[in-house]
Amino acid sequence: MTDSYAVFGNPIAQSKSPVIHRQFCDQTGEDMSYTKQLVDEGQFKQAADDFFAAGGRGLNITSPFKLDAFSYADHLTARAERAGAVNLLIKEPDGKLLGDNSDGIGMVNDMLNLGWEIAGKRILMLGAGGAVRGVLQPLLNQEPESITIANRTLAKAEDLAQGFHDLGNLKTSSFSDLAGKQFDLIINGTSASLRGDLPPLPDGLITDHTACYDMTYAAEPTVFLTWAQHQKAAQLADGLGMLVGQAAESFYAWRHIRPEVVPVITDLRRKMNESKKKAG
Ligand code: ATR
Repeated sequence: MTDSYAVFGNPIAQSKSPVIHRQFCDQTGEDMSYTKQLVDEGQFKQAADDFFAAGGRGLNITSPFKLDAFSYADHLTARAERAGAVNLLIKEPDGKLLGDNSDGIGMVNDMLNLGWEIAGKRILMLGAGGAVRGVLQPLLNQEPESITIANRTLAKAEDLAQGFHDLGNLKTSSFSDLAGKQFDLIINGTSASLRGDLPPLPDGLITDHTACYDMTYAAEPTVFLTWAQHQKAAQLADGLGMLVGQAAESFYAWRHIRPEVVPVITDLRRKMNESKKKAG
């Protein structure tokens, strides 16, 4: 029987995960299906029970169900525990469900694939919500010099720094107090981008070698990446590679085969550009 996998979310129509996993299957010859499933708010447990009762082997979970999946898992990986959220459920041979979080490792692997260095670097992380919590452990595992978490609500940055301080050098800041500081890598983890907003950042944060990464992605450069370009950042990337990276890590957890990410990222980017041209 073909092994079945799915992604649960709401909304879900926009999800690229089925296309990504189809390409991973084509590369590796794995016999599996992967569908997207719209789950009503409050119905995560029922939908997951039904999926696994019907023989499902694993799930990805996207907004707004990552906390539900965290509670639903029978046990958790250390990185999911730290992230406080689960985007990946794996059915184990004994029938138990392992909850994992592959978002952070997906982002870190994307940066390393791009040839960016993290070890020893001064990182500025913008935002202190769920998306940032999800990536801090894998980032700190790369041993940066420091991570400064800047957030509109400073108390949330302080809570995060407190929760991860045993893993590395974490600092906190308001946006305005960043004035006069410089960073090697700036990551936008706020949800501001999604609404076309930009955190109020002072000039001068960017040096001639600073790389800027937006955890969201779009056919057009995000407002954050447009700002970074105007500030003369040396390198820019959006979160498309992070999306494919978390999918690759999910595929590996389920099938024990590592797919190639670069051709999939290239193909998705080409399709996004084509539909942008058509829309224009
Ligand atoms: P997610 O799961 O996407 O991280 P979240 O947990 O609601 O969503 O966190 C959203 C993050 O984006 C927070 O850091 C939020 O700042 P606050 O903690 O001060 O709310 C940040 N954010 C959202 N809109 C923003 C804006 N317009 N300017 C600056 N920061 C913004």
